[in-house]
Amino acid sequence: MEIRTPQTTPLRALATGRILLAMAWISKKSGTMSVPRRAEPYLTAEMKDRLTRDVLTRYESRQGALLPTLHEVQHTWGWIPWQALEEVASFLGLKPADAWDTASFYEEFWLQPKGNHVIAVCRSIACEVCDHKKVTNAVRAKLGIEVGETTDDGNFTLVELECLGLCEGAPACLVDEAMHLCATPDSISKAIDHLRTHDAHGHAHGHAHGDELAGLEGWAKPASVPGKMPPGHLAKG
Ligand code: FES
Repeated sequence: MEIRTPQTTPLRALATGRILLAMAWISKKSGTMSVPRRAEPYLTAEMKDRLTRDVLTRYESRQGALLPTLHEVQHTWGWIPWQALEEVASFLGLKPADAWDTASFYEEFWLQPKGNHVIAVCRSIACEVCDHKKVTNAVRAKLGIEVGETTDDGNFTLVELECLGLCEGAPACLVDEAMHLCATPDSISKAIDHLRTHDAHGHAHGHAHGDELAGLEGWAKPASVPGKMPPGHLAKG
């Protein structure tokens, strides 16, 4: 199978003097790639029973249940391995490519293992104008990783995402599920230290939700701030 990712590339049409947008494709040959496998399925019999009972009945076709099934796998394992994609496709009567297309389209799905804590810095326009890079660079320097990488101890993953809907507090970021407005290198650094201390006291591992940060000044869980947040609701970093 060949996986192709669309890239929009501006081309100047010399004949007409107009700018055209053309879709170029980055191709990755995966026909000969080996899929890491393990004997035990990721989509266990218990998960299938639960999905069949509680999820499939809500959809006219099994294909309609693809997203919730992928969510179930990710919620259980923290990410979605290739083997799991094949199992999901088989369970729903789809081609593996269908499961891959969907899983690779949405940023919410992790197709590689992620750290115990995920630091997501917004890179969209409002945060870019407010120099989100200083926050990203502070994390890079503190953890010694690049965007998209995970620390060797598996504790932290750094990503940059598109608009988090927190533009009034740009630059904004999320750590696990905790939101932070007006982030600074100092505030994100303190958050990392706080998580390390928290983990060192025996709260580590499993899938983090940011609860430990929600009590820290300047951080909040989305559920605690329903609707639009008034400016300054969250303390400045
Ligand atoms: S642009 Fe960063 S939160 Fe909207």
